[in-house]
Amino acid sequence: MTDPARRILVTSALPYANGPIHIGHLVEYIQTDIWVRFQKLRGHECYYLCADDAHGTPIMLRAEQDGLSPEQLIDQVWQQHRADFAHFLIEFDNYYSTHSPENRHYAELIYNRLNAAGHISRRVITQAYDPEKQMFLPDRFIKGDCPRCNAADQYGDSCEHCGATYSPTDLKNPRSVISGATPVLKESLHLFFKLADFEAMLKEWIVSGPVQLQMANKLNEWFEAGLQEWDISRDAPYWGFEIPDAPGKYFYVWLDAPIGYMASFQNYCDRTGLKFADFWSPDSTAEVYHFIGKDIAYFHILFWPAELTGAGFRKPTAVHCHGFLTVDGQKMSKSRGTFIKARTYLQHLHPEYLRYYFATKLNDGIDDLDLNFDDFLHRVNSDLVGKLVNIASRSAGFITRRFNGKLAEQLAEPALYIDFIVAGDSITQAYEGREFGRAMREIMALADRANQYIDEKKPWTLAKQPGAEAEVQAVCSMGLNLFRLLILYLKPVLPGLAEQVEQFLQIPPLRWDAGPNPLLGHAIAEFKPLMQRVEMAQITAMIEDSRESFPAADETPVKAPGPLAMDPISPIISIDDFTKLDFRVARIVKAETVTGADKLVRLELDLGGETRQVFAGIKSAYAPEDLPGRLTVVVANLAPRKMRFGVSEGMILAAGGNGGIYLLSPDSGAEPGMRVK
Ligand code: 2FM
Ligand code: ZN
Repeated sequence: MTDPARRILVTSALPYANGPIHIGHLVEYIQTDIWVRFQKLRGHECYYLCADDAHGTPIMLRAEQDGLSPEQLIDQVWQQHRADFAHFLIEFDNYYSTHSPENRHYAELIYNRLNAAGHISRRVITQAYDPEKQMFLPDRFIKGDCPRCNAADQYGDSCEHCGATYSPTDLKNPRSVISGATPVLKESLHLFFKLADFEAMLKEWIVSGPVQLQMANKLNEWFEAGLQEWDISRDAPYWGFEIPDAPGKYFYVWLDAPIGYMASFQNYCDRTGLKFADFWSPDSTAEVYHFIGKDIAYFHILFWPAELTGAGFRKPTAVHCHGFLTVDGQKMSKSRGTFIKARTYLQHLHPEYLRYYFATKLNDGIDDLDLNFDDFLHRVNSDLVGKLVNIASRSAGFITRRFNGKLAEQLAEPALYIDFIVAGDSITQAYEGREFGRAMREIMALADRANQYIDEKKPWTLAKQPGAEAEVQAVCSMGLNLFRLLILYLKPVLPGLAEQVEQFLQIPPLRWDAGPNPLLGHAIAEFKPLMQRVEMAQITAMIEDSRESFPAADETPVKAPGPLAMDPISPIISIDDFTKLDFRVARIVKAETVTGADKLVRLELDLGGETRQVFAGIKSAYAPEDLPGRLTVVVANLAPRKMRFGVSEGMILAAGGNGGIYLLSPDSGAEPGMRVK
């Protein structure tokens, strides 16, 4: 089911035009792209706009350092950003720049309207000035000794050593990062946006639900602290737009950055004939969503709706914030090789692995999300290669070889197919609500059911039985129809794979409402491998390529953990800790020795429809051939561990002592998959 057609405009934050796209950025663009693709697949009118954030002092100085004009630098970076996004299948309807005539137009228009309505004030302020470079210095361009703890080489706004925040004039022994000169204090006229004029409007807006609860709480804190006037001007030399009625003064980059959303859309309208006002006028019924990191919420949920309202435009329907990316539990780091650029990633790994992995981790909250490489490898290999693609590779060969590529005329198990269609409602809701992790779990549970169906029917055995031809065709056609639904549900996340599958199945591009029409009596193409397993060596090589030998100045060195304290008595845990453990009854289906490992046995466990691989150190007590058929107990929710021989997906319980190992087994009557409480 789809609801009535909606008109939706979506943006991601505009990346600065002075650096490459890295995997931290990609969390947001992948999140937004998945949501947009989902809306488009459902048949809604949806536009995804973005641009480079091309103004400000860092870009001006970076261009100077590189011997380029700012225009040359932002042009080069724009090309690189566009290529990086395209490789990650992030499909903008328009990717523009804030250094554009449209952006100048809207920045001036918004400023002029705010000014005419009395929302701009002017006053002289005193700031640090570099007498050599002859420019005012942003706080991050002044360094000195911390006024509180005397730590050397601290920025002008805060101390990384003791956490103190202060103004640059408080720093001891201050110096300009640009010229090394000692800054002097200098007065200058600045223009301010009177944010407090919009307090009542913002308070009313926030209760209508445009931001997540945590962000609404944050906003209330800001209200309590009092809304300050916002300094929107900077003195020449500055790389940006000159303010119309204030020669030598420029709009601060953060004034014209969000206006870049509008400018990108205007540019798109001019190319396509869409009407700008349909989306931005105060009475617009279209929806506008901004996806951003939680660090820039202040600009998007305070200044931006206030500016828009003051200038006679509509406010966003919602601002969706997300958390930051950590890698293996820590901040991305150049010295550890975890500050991974989009380009470096692409030299080693397929972009859809990362799209899928981030999807499994994303939800509608603002908590940080972790890229854990063991987990990444396991998710891709187990879910995408082992579960998903496996369904097609097990079914397609029979159809090609024995039935000339033709699928059966009837569905073998209509009820199972209907279950898959019904499950689509919850998956739809999960996508709509940005609960992508939940969507992925539900889709993979369906993939387990599809594999279970094939396991039960065993087409490879049927194929050897005389007279079972029709059944082989029916089972494999059923498998491929379930596969088609899974690919449909994953299409927002894996658009490249979906396209390959559309070619393999010889069907037009799948749309969200394609489910109820299975492929019957339809000819498919020959199956070709769709996805390769990830090898740890590829990940290691990517990390090595990303490693920079000298830690960047903004990285705090990480202390190596000390040896583990051996405590003879286990710590007392709460009942909450205990209930986190998911113990399940498992049947050992297969057991084999592991070449090169004296103590290990590789087990395949049946957990009631789900098969897991577990490596257990029980070889000294059990001969592998004695184990199949035995029931045991497994910790089912242990994070998968990459071992030298493969990934272990749980741990079986055994008692140990007196040199013996005793596998725990439930009494007879217990079934695989039962919860142990
Ligand atoms: O924080 C940043 O990277 C900014 N360039 C984001 C700007 S988003 C929008 F407001 F333009
Ligand atoms: Zn300090």
